[in-house]
Amino acid sequence: MQSGPGPVSMRILDVGCGLNKHPGAIGIDRNPRSNADVLCDLDRVPYPFAPESFDLIRAVHVVEHVSDVIQTMEEFHRLLKSGGRLYLATPHYTDFSSFCDPTHRWHLNSFSFRYFGEDHGGFGYYTQAKFREISVRLRLLALWRWLGFEFLVNRFPHFRRLWEYYLCFIIRGKSMEFEFEKVS
Ligand SMILES: C[S@@+](CC[C@H](N)C(=O)[O-])C[C@H]1O[C@@H](n2cnc3c(N)ncnc32)[C@H](O)[C@@H]1O
Repeated sequence: MQSGPGPVSMRILDVGCGLNKHPGAIGIDRNPRSNADVLCDLDRVPYPFAPESFDLIRAVHVVEHVSDVIQTMEEFHRLLKSGGRLYLATPHYTDFSSFCDPTHRWHLNSFSFRYFGEDHGGFGYYTQAKFREISVRLRLLALWRWLGFEFLVNRFPHFRRLWEYYLCFIIRGKSMEFEFEKVS
């Protein structure tokens, strides 16, 4: 046991951890062959933790598998401490993997989480859970990365919008990484 003041370790939840549980995290997954510490079905809420239990939630290539993205994000919101962070990675819908894996239920783009932003993307009745978007990082297929499109998409938000609207069926995406902060 630690005595006196010292570095307080972060409480990290790795949701749908599979075999790649983040070091130091509590892993949850429904698959008993995963490295989960707690077996649970993400489609059944609440998950077995008290509100505001975690400083960081990681959801790496899992949100595209759940039955209800809004419900899942609301559960992440419940479990995070005030100001806690959510790291979320998921395929871009134009990637081969998005439609190849028959267990994927959702095919998302880099604006799909705006419904949890400050004005809820204009759809305030979807949910009350709010997250501030700290960063979005797109990865594109290698050819487009080499030609500089990945840089442009990540560097200029207006270009990212233009890419999503007009270009992404040719200049295809691969994956997206988001970092959010819980807004109370
Ligand atoms: C593509 S794997 C990603 C695993 C890991 N995060 C990684 O990056 O390697 C998706 C994981 O989510 C888990 N998963 C999918 N749907 C789930 C659900 N409804 N409840 C619990 N776990 C689920 C699967 O068992 C699987 O381990």
